[in-house]
Amino acid sequence: MTPARGKGAAAQPAHGGRLVVVSNRVTVIRGKQATQAGGLAVGLLAALKEAGGLWFGWSGETTTDAPGPVRTQTAGGIGYALTDLSVDDLEDYYNNFANRTLWPLFHYRIDLATYEPHWYAAYRRVNRFFAERLKALLRPDDLVWIHDYHLIPLAAELRRLGVQNRLAFFLHIPFPAPELYVTMPWQRELALDLCQYDVVGFQTPTDLRQFKNYVELELGRRFDADGWTHVEGRHVLAAAVPIGIEAEEFAQMPYLPEAQRQRQRLKEAIRGRRLIIGVDRLDYTKGIAERLKSFLLLLETLGHDDKSTSFMQISAPSRSDVPEYVNLRVEVETLAGHINGRFSDSDYVPLRYINRSFSRTALAGFFHLSAIGLVTPLRDGMNLVAKEYVAAQNPDDPGVLVLSRFAGAAGELDGALIVNPYDLHQVARAMQAGLGMPLDERKDRWERMMAKVRHFDIRGWWTKSMRLLREATPPQRES
Ligand code: G6P
Repeated sequence: MTPARGKGAAAQPAHGGRLVVVSNRVTVIRGKQATQAGGLAVGLLAALKEAGGLWFGWSGETTTDAPGPVRTQTAGGIGYALTDLSVDDLEDYYNNFANRTLWPLFHYRIDLATYEPHWYAAYRRVNRFFAERLKALLRPDDLVWIHDYHLIPLAAELRRLGVQNRLAFFLHIPFPAPELYVTMPWQRELALDLCQYDVVGFQTPTDLRQFKNYVELELGRRFDADGWTHVEGRHVLAAAVPIGIEAEEFAQMPYLPEAQRQRQRLKEAIRGRRLIIGVDRLDYTKGIAERLKSFLLLLETLGHDDKSTSFMQISAPSRSDVPEYVNLRVEVETLAGHINGRFSDSDYVPLRYINRSFSRTALAGFFHLSAIGLVTPLRDGMNLVAKEYVAAQNPDDPGVLVLSRFAGAAGELDGALIVNPYDLHQVARAMQAGLGMPLDERKDRWERMMAKVRHFDIRGWWTKSMRLLREATPPQRES
């Protein structure tokens, strides 16, 4: 999508101020840590370096009293401004409203979403608190780029304080179908809050369509062909800006000494068996329990004497203060125990279930060794693991990606075996097909996917986002 200039709109000068990034979590990166930062942090840091900027957000610390002043620091040429939150605010804003209301709802799990007015009140209160603290740091020509579902009302709160700066928002998770979204009591307020930004970015054309459908059906406002609409006196541009990874850097990672060392260790441990790998935060959106059930079906099909495959599922604990995540952990551990109890032998363990994180370099090494990458979320904004899996393959002997149709990445990676993760038998069949796929087909599929991973990379994401933030000019048809 190109920035729209409406017919008759006077050419406006591009905005060239500092970039201010705002997110709930902030990654302060010093020196060598840069190589281990996730793709998103790498992209944001690159954008911040280019525009000269500041990253504002929660420090990761809580206080039992009122939080002290904002702490500023510089690292790697980038300014950081961090604020603590009170224990109670963090509980209701982050653990509860963000992660027990918005997260399940936006991932289509209304069965897990809880609608609790005092959580919503805390969410608004913390957004107001962030807005007050941010306003004191802003210069008039700063461009502000706000990230993810924790901060939907931040623009509205800043506007209420008189902030006129250009504000963009990027939603890293899906935007749900309107029929689900309207179940939330505060759906209208939060949708109007989104319309207080100048630009709202979504991961995929599907998410964009869901948002547009909602605005048209519920707010009665239409979008023009360029993606602009006009709500409560403001123009807002909605666009799909799919996120990516640092493709070339990640493709080099499996050849680093650390990746080779980790790969060798694993290779010795699996002793010639074909490796299937899954890597996700331990989150119910990732379809980990369903994936294990599919693996169980595969083992049943292969039979007890077949010890040809080894599955490694790496799931670092996440949001462990949230009850739904505690329940998931128990469910997955029970399944893992069941699979190993049933199919292990004195010389064979089918499943390595690992509850901790590994460095990105180590993961690249594991991906490079594997025959199959399983990325089967029940719903996911994009899923960068899918792209990292592709980038880390050996071009002469690539593995097969089995990818959920409900991951944003499925819209790009059509060389994967695309599956419905709820269809456990289909996923088991896809694993079997992947294990038996001839080299020519694997190469052909991988080349198609790698071209997409390179095309939709992290640089493309932030440069397009920055261009929209700087240059998008509303049509002048409506006032
Ligand atoms: C998802 C969200 C991010 C979030 C991350 C880790 O990717 O889109 O905003 O930071 O999960 O979750 P956490 O709750 O630990 O920040």
